[in-house]
Amino acid sequence: MNLETSHHQALRQRIAARDARVAVVGLGYVGLPLALTAHDKGFDTTGLDLNPQRVARINQGAQVLSYLAPDRIARAVDSGRFRATQDAAALAEADIILICVPTPLTDSQDPDMRFVAAAAETVAQHLRPGQLVVLESSVWPGATTTLVQPLLEARGLRAGVDFFLGFSPEREDPGNDKFDTQNIPKVVGADDPLSLRLIEEFYRTIVTRAVPVSSTATAEAVKLVENSFRTVNIALVNELKTALDAMGVDVWEVIDAAATKPFGFMPFYPGPGIGGACIPVSPAYLAWRAADAGADTPIINLARSSNDAVPGALARRMAERLAPDDADPDQPLTGQRILLMGIAYKRDVEDTRRSPALVLLQELEKLGARVDYHDPFFPRLSEVGEYPQLAGRESVPLTAENLNRYGAVAVITDHSAPDYALVAREAAMIFDTRNVFAKKGIEVSGGRLVKL
Ligand SMILES: NC(=O)c1ccc[n+]([C@@H]2O[C@H](COP(=O)([O-])OP(=O)(O)OC[C@H]3O[C@@H](n4cnc5c(N)ncnc54)[C@H](O)[C@@H]3O)[C@@H](O)[C@H]2O)c1
Repeated sequence: MNLETSHHQALRQRIAARDARVAVVGLGYVGLPLALTAHDKGFDTTGLDLNPQRVARINQGAQVLSYLAPDRIARAVDSGRFRATQDAAALAEADIILICVPTPLTDSQDPDMRFVAAAAETVAQHLRPGQLVVLESSVWPGATTTLVQPLLEARGLRAGVDFFLGFSPEREDPGNDKFDTQNIPKVVGADDPLSLRLIEEFYRTIVTRAVPVSSTATAEAVKLVENSFRTVNIALVNELKTALDAMGVDVWEVIDAAATKPFGFMPFYPGPGIGGACIPVSPAYLAWRAADAGADTPIINLARSSNDAVPGALARRMAERLAPDDADPDQPLTGQRILLMGIAYKRDVEDTRRSPALVLLQELEKLGARVDYHDPFFPRLSEVGEYPQLAGRESVPLTAENLNRYGAVAVITDHSAPDYALVAREAAMIFDTRNVFAKKGIEVSGGRLVKL
C-alpha cells in the first residue's frame, strides 16, 4: 500500500467512525454554526479565532449568536468535545480543517483576499500529511487552486497526494428558522478524486446532503452564481416596485399572485436595498474574476449599482412626502425628526454589515433630518466598522410617547419583536419598505401609511 492510499484510507475510516478531529478557522456567522454542527454530529471540534473576546465568550458557553438555540454553545462546551482557541498550534492536532474567514471588498470594491491568504499561511505552518483542508469562504473561481494551494504547499507537501484539499461554499442563512447548517445541501468540489471522495464523505456525515462537483472552481462559482442571481432579482423587483407604484399598482400583491404560478417564477420582494457580508459582495467577486478572464458582466454591474442607489432614492422619496413647500432644496428635511425601525441588514439578526439602513440614516441626515433608530438587537451602536461616526447612538425604546416625537417612522428591517400595532396607532406617518403592516394584517388609518 502506498503512502497516499494509507493516509486516505485512514482518514476515511476516522470520518466513518466519527473519531476524526475537526478544526474550524474563523468562528463567525458561518464558522461557529458549522463547528457546532460538526460537534453535534459526533466529531471532536476545535474552533480557532483571532478575536480573544469571542474565544473567551464561546468557552464560557455564552450565546454569541442570538439565533442559535440558547444553550447550544454551552452544551457543546460542557460535552468536553468542543472548544475555542486562539492558538493555531491546535491545527496540527486536527484531521480536517475548515476555513471560514471573511472575504470582504477592498476600498476600491475589489475582492479582499487577505484573510483567506493569512488563514492559509497559518494552516500551512501546521499542515501535516493526511489532513483534509476545505475552504468555505466565498471566493472567486480559481482561488483555492491558484492562491490557497500554493500557500499550503510552500513547505513541500502536495495537495491530493500528501494532504487533501477542496472547496465547499457556505449557504448559511442566519436567522432562517427552516434551514440551518445541518439541513442545507452542501456543494463540494475538489481537483483530484481522492480529495473529492474525502470531502464528500465528511460532509455527508454532518449535513443532509453533499452535492459533488468536478472541481474547486466549479464549487466556488456555485456560490457566486447563487448570490448574483439574488442580486439581479432584487434589483429587478425594486425597479418593478417603482414602475408599478407609478401606475398605482401594489407590487406585493402582484408578486404574491404571480408566485401562484407553479413553474418559471420565483418571488423576490422589494426592500430598502441589499446588505450583509454575502449578497452584495459575491457579485463583485464574480465580476472581478470575469473581467480578469476577459468577459463582461453588464447585467451584474447594473444590478449592483442599482441596488446601491436604493437607500438614496428612498431618502429622496421620503423627503418628497415630508418636506414643506418652502423647504430648502438642499436640506428639505430640516426640522424633521424621523425614526428608523431596524438597522440590522435583515430580520432577526444582530448584523449591520453593509446594512442599507445605515446608508439611509446618513442620507436622511444629509437632507437635514434628525434621525434616530429603534432596533432590539442594537441597544447601542458600538461596532459599526464601516461608519465609525455612528458609534455611540442608542436605540430609542418603542413607546407611545417616543413615537409621538417623530414626524415619520420608517420600517427598514422587519424584526419580529417590535409592536407594529403600537406604531400603527401612534406614528404620525409610516413609511413601510417591507410591507410589514399588510403582512401582519394591521390597519393604519387616516392615509398615514406609505409603502415606500
Ligand atoms: N454571514 C453569512 O450569512 C454568510 C453566508 C454564506 C457565506 N458567507 C461567507 O463565509 C465567510 C465567513 O463569513 P462570516 O459572516 O462568518 O464572517 P465573520 O466576520 O462573521 O467571521 C469571521 C471570523 O473569522 C475570524 N478570523 C479572521 N481571520 C482569521 C484567521 N486568520 N484565523 C482565525 N480566525 C480568523 C474573525 O475574527 C471572525 O470571528 C465569508 O467568505 C462570507 O462571504 C457568509
